[in-house]
Amino acid sequence: MESAHTFASQALSLILLIPFLLFISNTQAVSPASSTQTYKTYIKTACNSTTFPQDCYTSLSPYASKIKSNPQKLCIYALSQALRATKTTFSTVRKLNKTKGLSHFDKDVIQDCLDNINYAIDGLKDSLDTMNNLNETDTEFQLGNVKTWVSAAITDEDTCTDGFEDDDQNASSSLKVMKQQIKKNIVVVARSTSNALALVNHLNYTTNY
Ligand SMILES: *[C@@H]1O[C@H](CO)[C@@H](O)[C@H](O)[C@H]1NC(C)=O
Ligand SMILES: *[C@@H]1O[C@H](CO)[C@@H](O)[C@H](O)[C@H]1NC(C)=O
Ligand SMILES: *[C@@H]1O[C@H](CO)[C@@H](O)[C@H](O)[C@H]1NC(C)=O
Ligand SMILES: *[C@@H]1O[C@H](CO)[C@@H](O)[C@H](O)[C@H]1NC(C)=O
Ligand SMILES: *[C@@H]1O[C@H](CO)[C@@H](O)[C@H](O)[C@H]1NC(C)=O
Repeated sequence: MESAHTFASQALSLILLIPFLLFISNTQAVSPASSTQTYKTYIKTACNSTTFPQDCYTSLSPYASKIKSNPQKLCIYALSQALRATKTTFSTVRKLNKTKGLSHFDKDVIQDCLDNINYAIDGLKDSLDTMNNLNETDTEFQLGNVKTWVSAAITDEDTCTDGFEDDDQNASSSLKVMKQQIKKNIVVVARSTSNALALVNHLNYTTNY
């Protein structure tokens, strides 16, 4: 009697326990915290193939729950970040362009820089557009275009500060200060764009999009 009673109560507690255990394992499987961690690890691994892994991870990990483990989305977010940084730099330089008392020489240097940043913005926009519309028939051709445009954007960004290297006697002191400011911006932009290119280069053609 005693043992039958114990058995019954043990069986009952087991029956009560099973849904509880299922509940626990279920919530662990779909827990947002643990899946976000998985997605962050995916980004960390992917960023490992870039030139500036830490910048890559810092800029993309906030979007982990949107990127999930999707390489195409990863590239889309990387390109968006590069585009955003480039646009920010454009408006910074455009404000500097309005500085009073710039010489003609200063204005030419800044205008050249703005033109180049604009080309970079166009290339990144086209890349983003293509990356958002990849299709199975043309993937290799489309990705080829994206790589070409993003590489060109990196060159354009570098070209912006090319004119800055010469220690020109005609440059005003305000231009010298501006050059430093623009250079700092361009470093961030160029890193971000270079990382986006590395991630695009890493995309696997045979993946279905
Ligand atoms: C990144 O690469 C290094 C060496 O190339 C490796 O030791 C490390 O485990 C990698 N990290 C990730 C998250 O893949
Ligand atoms: C920069 O300033 C010049 C005038 O100093 C102006 O003609 C030019 O349009 C400006 N560039 C941009 C992109 O705003
Ligand atoms: C695939 O992409 C190309 C180039 O963007 C486009 O011309 C073509 O219409 C697309 N095909 C399909 C089926 O979407
Ligand atoms: C620098 O200024 C001098 C005198 O204004 C001018 O002759 C020379 O062409 C300028 N150099 C450049 C690179 O603009
Ligand atoms: C691309 O993916 C296919 C199938 O998953 C695999 O066989 C191939 O090795 C991959 N290529 C690269 C460059 O990762």
